[in-house]
Amino acid sequence: MDKSKAKIAVFISGSGTNLQALIDATKSGHLDAEIVLVVSNTKKAFGLKRAEKEGIETFVFQPKEYSSREIANEKLLALLKERKIDYIALAGYLKLIPTSLIKAYRNRIVNIHPALLPKYGGKGMYGHFVHETVIANQEKESGVTIHLVDEQYDRGNILEQVKVPVLPDDTPEKLAAKILVQEHKLYPKVLDNLIKGKYKINNE
Ligand code: GRF
Repeated sequence: MDKSKAKIAVFISGSGTNLQALIDATKSGHLDAEIVLVVSNTKKAFGLKRAEKEGIETFVFQPKEYSSREIANEKLLALLKERKIDYIALAGYLKLIPTSLIKAYRNRIVNIHPALLPKYGGKGMYGHFVHETVIANQEKESGVTIHLVDEQYDRGNILEQVKVPVLPDDTPEKLAAKILVQEHKLYPKVLDNLIKGKYKINNE
């Protein structure tokens, strides 16, 4: 284990194909970091299996298992600190990030969103809902946005975007698949850049 590498925790809720892309990029050297923890809000997330297969520690975080939400949040933060996590990458994580965590990791939490924010973001805009709305609105393009996470859903500083054309015969599923391919390419790159200090962040 290389002690000088940045340590990342990846938060997931589902399939974890972005998690896999990040893991693969750490192996190929495109992402100069170590994924040391995968957090999921549900034990059903397939991404947990991907983590286990790679020997990465997993943690299922369910606030209802604790006596209060505050205590749950403290427990999560304590685990991140214990594991010396430097960055948090949200990869399809469907729960709100506690404010205490956002404060502790200001400008070091990143999210990936399958549309061109600030359009098609915010509460309830995730997964197929995003692509259905994009198509219903007859948008000519959609894409990927990677942004820093602050206290508002999908509103933090945008780090990178990639556009994907919406074709007349695109269904939400087809569009999602095209966008996912771009997500897998972009996420490792952006995290690597962020770790290397390549972004100018407004509130710093
Ligand atoms: C991706 O489309 C990502 O943009 C969004 O949730 C999806 C997660 O997919 N936030 P996966 O679990 O990484 O396959």
